[in-house]
Amino acid sequence: MAETKPHMNLIFIGHVDSGKSTTVGRLLYETGSFSEQDKAKIQKDIETLGKVDFEFAYFLDTSGEERKKGVTIDLSHEKFVTDKYEFTIIDAPGHVDFIKNMITGASEADAAVLVVDAKEGVMQQTREHVYLARVFGIKSLIVALNKMDLLNYDEAKYKEVKDAVIKAIKVSYPNAESLNYVPISSKNGENLKVRSEKMPWYTGPTLLETLNNLPLPERPTQLPLRIPVEDVYSIQGVGTVPVGKVISGIMKPGDKIIFEPSHVTAEVKSIQMHYQNLDQAQPGDNIGFNVRGIEKDQVKRGDVVGLVSAPPTVATEFTAQIIVLNHPTAISAGYSPVLHAHTAQIPVKFKKILKRLDPKTGQTAEENPATIKQGDAAIVVLEPLKPLSIEKSDVIPQLAGFAIRDMGLTIAAGRCIDLVAKT
Ligand code: GTP
Ligand code: MG
Repeated sequence: MAETKPHMNLIFIGHVDSGKSTTVGRLLYETGSFSEQDKAKIQKDIETLGKVDFEFAYFLDTSGEERKKGVTIDLSHEKFVTDKYEFTIIDAPGHVDFIKNMITGASEADAAVLVVDAKEGVMQQTREHVYLARVFGIKSLIVALNKMDLLNYDEAKYKEVKDAVIKAIKVSYPNAESLNYVPISSKNGENLKVRSEKMPWYTGPTLLETLNNLPLPERPTQLPLRIPVEDVYSIQGVGTVPVGKVISGIMKPGDKIIFEPSHVTAEVKSIQMHYQNLDQAQPGDNIGFNVRGIEKDQVKRGDVVGLVSAPPTVATEFTAQIIVLNHPTAISAGYSPVLHAHTAQIPVKFKKILKRLDPKTGQTAEENPATIKQGDAAIVVLEPLKPLSIEKSDVIPQLAGFAIRDMGLTIAAGRCIDLVAKT
């Protein structure tokens, strides 16, 4: 049997057109996950679309619409294996309308690669994606400064943009200075797998080497079991099968489980991953599990599964630290946008704005401000207008992150720091 390597979920983030899909396509190609045949087939496909140039992004952007527009619309998942890890790559769309998908992707990721167009420098979504990565608890961040070909592989220009990136992401990643920054050209394959001869001044690791050097992701098996439900199927001859990713804890056949906030209990009959039965599921596993005692429509996406002995928390209100990423005017108490947390999507109300914080130091800048606006960090009390399962950041950090959306924008991102549990 083939040796199994540790698994790593990696998300590519960054401003629209920075070259995320191209970078991922290149990596897949250079690690042998795509063949010359795949490449030839794509070449043929794009001729029918009337595009002239081959794009490595087409390995990821497979729909006609994606190729025509040259943007990623859906999250795509691809795998590649190195000598160290088995990577699942999540290629997040950079287009502003599609940030919703990026939020889902970020909550599944162990590490992130921030792709920056080195010629354009820091853009709005560069900051925004990095905030979100932090909010969703992604500890390992790698920065790829792409399109170095457009800067003639110039070291001084690289240093300039690197410094600008450090400055921009320091709020989210205080260790910004000690992260890995790799100058690359995805289009030409410079410093992806093979060390670039065009940038002899760069002596650090290639992008692939930085991926192999990532620390092993934490697998919080000691925490209570939590599985946000992504979907529920009813399979003939099998029964009800919810699917989702184990975020924390361990689940075994025979376990008595509860779905919250639907508040429905069941017994686990069997657990499957990649069409195989598991004796137990652990954090990181994407599973389907067959449950006894419930019908398909009794539970739904947005529910969280836990053991009956340690059920998921349902909050009637919660205190959160947030950062306002986008808002055309100002936010005051009473504002009711949509909250996205794990797989849940529900209306929420700003009940109180407790403090405005200095985003650089985290110190209180103003108590009980009437409003907060774009760029502000704040402590607020949020009231879910429909039942929501969420956890406190210091109890289950993996389930404390959320984003707030309205008018097609990501208004804010934050973490739950305290809550009033439904009794
Ligand atoms: P979205 O998914 O729409 O957010 O874009 P993306 O970040 O996935 O960018 P994509 O990979 O689609 O690339 C955008 C454009 O940049 C394409 O035209 C690429 O050919 C081009 N591009 C990507 N990498 C490089 C590079 O290293 N050098 C140059 N010159 N162009 C590049
Ligand atoms: Mg893309």
